[in-house]
Amino acid sequence: PPVSIFGVPTDVGAGTRGASMGPEALRVAGLGEALAARGVDVVDNGDVYGPKNPWRGPVDGYRHLDEVVAWNRAVYQAASDILDAGRMPVMLGGDHCLAIGSIAAVADHCRRAGRKLRVLWLDAHTDFNTSQITPSGNIHGMPVACLCGIGPDALTGIGAHVPAIAPAQVRQLGIRSVDQDEKRLVKEHRLDIYDMRYIDEVGMKQAMEQALAGLDADTHLHVSFDVDVVDPEIAPGTGTPIPGGVNYREAQLIMEMIADTGLLGSLDIVEVNPALDARNRTAELAVDLVESLFGKSTLMRD
Ligand code: ARG
Ligand code: MN
Ligand code: MN
Ligand code: MN
Repeated sequence: PPVSIFGVPTDVGAGTRGASMGPEALRVAGLGEALAARGVDVVDNGDVYGPKNPWRGPVDGYRHLDEVVAWNRAVYQAASDILDAGRMPVMLGGDHCLAIGSIAAVADHCRRAGRKLRVLWLDAHTDFNTSQITPSGNIHGMPVACLCGIGPDALTGIGAHVPAIAPAQVRQLGIRSVDQDEKRLVKEHRLDIYDMRYIDEVGMKQAMEQALAGLDADTHLHVSFDVDVVDPEIAPGTGTPIPGGVNYREAQLIMEMIADTGLLGSLDIVEVNPALDARNRTAELAVDLVESLFGKSTLMRD
């Protein structure tokens, strides 16, 4: 399907500044051109706007809740408009709190279109915290919980339906950092998690086959790509790096196996932080991986 890119230049959900520069870094790395070179019909809608980062501490367990709500409302609208036009939204974050708006839009679109939704969450983190248990107050650690209806009304109610999605629709891959109480919550809600230990033991091919199992032609696949899923040795430009991430070849295999499904319907690329990067290599890596996600084969060199 034709693609519409939109940037969301904010880091209001993060505890480190700089992800607000992610959209431009991805553009400078040639994302639009790379998709066009693949033969994809792609337009860049430019950026969505919202409040500046006030850079305050958490209040009642949330840092910048009002600002996070405002940005996510704008994201919900931008993604909904693109889906209504029959195009694939590709969101350039920004921090990962923005997936609340993008996935709520996709979930509502799927309900209207009578399509099933599967979310593939590629991340070092489960992002399933609540205000009660968060160690940081940073809302980019909470989007999956909010989408599943666990969170403040202003965020769980971004879309037309609460909860936007059910935990059973989510697969998380690459996980290696889950906070103490977050672990309990993730187990309680039975999130389907393919963590690094599991990937080490069975290999990426089998982990991905399991994560993609049960998809059919009526399924819309949303990929939420937090670049910190990749090992920080090759993707240093991100605010919450965790050692022991997926390597270059594993990351390529993830993207190629998603491409092979032919079901990709929407994409977030989040947590690129140019202020922490080595030149622009993390954005460049993300573009390289997104090319594979859109069908470029490393084997055939096409
Ligand atoms: N679990 C930690 C927290 O709640 C880190 C979350 C990192 N999330 C992210 N999208 N990078 O603060
Ligand atoms: Mn659709
Ligand atoms: Mn994340
Ligand atoms: Mn993460």
